[in-house]
Amino acid sequence: MPQPFAQAEPDTVFRLFDQTAGTYDLLNDLLSLGLHRLWKRQAVALLQPRSGARIVDLCCGTGDLALLLAERVRPHGCVIGVDGSAAALAQARRRATEQPWLPLEFIHGDVLALPLPPAMADGVMMAYGLRNLSSAAAGLRVIRHLLRPHGRGVVLDFNRPSHPLWAQAQRSYLQQVVVPVARMLDLEAEYAYLERSIATFATGLQQETLARQAGFAVARHHPIAGGLMGLLELTAGRS
Ligand SMILES: C[S@@+](CC[C@H](N)C(=O)[O-])C[C@H]1O[C@@H](n2cnc3c(N)ncnc32)[C@H](O)[C@@H]1O
Repeated sequence: MPQPFAQAEPDTVFRLFDQTAGTYDLLNDLLSLGLHRLWKRQAVALLQPRSGARIVDLCCGTGDLALLLAERVRPHGCVIGVDGSAAALAQARRRATEQPWLPLEFIHGDVLALPLPPAMADGVMMAYGLRNLSSAAAGLRVIRHLLRPHGRGVVLDFNRPSHPLWAQAQRSYLQQVVVPVARMLDLEAEYAYLERSIATFATGLQQETLARQAGFAVARHHPIAGGLMGLLELTAGRS
């Protein structure tokens, strides 16, 4: 069993998500009481994908957001989902075949080593991926690389609440709900890393700074869900 940790090597992260792919969607629904669906819809609303747009969903996992986005850009747009976990992508591809009218394609690969050309996307989404990359700064540079001038990006991830009560509530939730539920499904090691990865993840302000350093003209972090989650809104400049 791999020992997951924040900012792990990509292969370790891919193995981790290969192991959880079969139960990932069920666990997401159970552990968030279905609320992750709402947060993902908020992320899509912030991205404002238009019909005909080309959107890249980085770290697409089992395809939740890629499917939502494809619904918004069809019939003439397209969504390209990228993930390094073969098992997660297999789930995403299976779900896509149930809605064959959706303009979707998937690429298996490391987000930080993608052979995609610059300025090829109108929009880029990344949900619960930035925290898992070996470098958040490098992840933001990839989003900037992919976006056309004035293109928009949205990053959805956990946030460290600034209010001590919410911060304590988040810790208790992770220790007393997430880990025990994961233990019941024999996935304790896979989920035990979450708390550490959130604790070492860039704060909203730090994400804004990293994004500006990556070349974004606009970078605004919006805490949602009482500050438990965050949406980083990105806009590329003129060139
Ligand atoms: C927590 S899941 C999120 C999946 C999906 N975006 C969602 O919100 O349901 C994180 C995903 O990021 C992928 N991932 C992490 N690091 C990656 C990298 N360097 N390249 C490609 N995929 C990566 C993992 O394989 C995993 O499927």
